Amino acid sequence: MIICVCHNLNCSKVGEAIENGATSPKEIQAFHGNRFQCGRCKPEMCAKLRASQAPTTANESLVENAIA
Ligand code: FES
Repeated sequence: MIICVCHNLNCSKVGEAIENGATSPKEIQAFHGNRFQCGRCKPEMCAKLRASQAPTTANESLVENAIA
């Protein structure tokens, strides 16, 4: 699925940027040498960033509960 039509960034390319340390939509674009044009892809990039952080948060909660 294409996330950024302006720069032809699909889910895989967005995921690659996140795996390599991108923490914001702007950093995802910068990882691929781009800058925002229309910006319509920002909400979907934010969703991908949140999804990538969710398992860590859940795991931290499990660890905290296990310790308590
Ligand atoms: S869709 Fe990403 S900048 Fe336009």
